[in-house]
Amino acid sequence: MKQTQPKWKKDFPLDHAEEEHVSRREFAKFLVLTSFGLFIGNCWIAAKQWLRPKQQPPPDTLIGSLDEVRIGEMKQFHYPDEKSPAILIRLSKNELVAYGQKCTHLSCAVFWEGGSKITCPCHHGFFDVRDGHVLAGPPPRPLPRIPLKISDGRVYAVGWEV
Ligand code: FES
Repeated sequence: MKQTQPKWKKDFPLDHAEEEHVSRREFAKFLVLTSFGLFIGNCWIAAKQWLRPKQQPPPDTLIGSLDEVRIGEMKQFHYPDEKSPAILIRLSKNELVAYGQKCTHLSCAVFWEGGSKITCPCHHGFFDVRDGHVLAGPPPRPLPRIPLKISDGRVYAVGWEV
């Protein structure tokens, strides 16, 4: 019995073994082109990074008057932009500290209720209120510290230390 070939086999007479065969030359060409593409991509990223304008430090921002925060109290504010919550803590008459309010673990809001610890309620993370370093829990880094300036009875945020 004679088998007839389907029409598509006559139109595209490729043997299956030949279809998957990749010659050394084709493979080398593929490697060269892929490497060239990666090289161009890296050059583009490097050029973009090099031409990017340098980040300016955030401008001094008024948090409020010194009288607004009594000793042992915390005040919330936003710094360096409206999307970044922060906390100002008055530890004593002349001792104020400020930190970004997002926990360095998974960004829950931290809070202070007096004492020596800033607390993150999500996974029981604790930070030292004096310098923001991690006391306990899963946070991998200290809280970002916000340097302060006090002038004419007003408190200003003047930077961002990660
Ligand atoms: Fe703060 Fe997990 S988000 S400890």
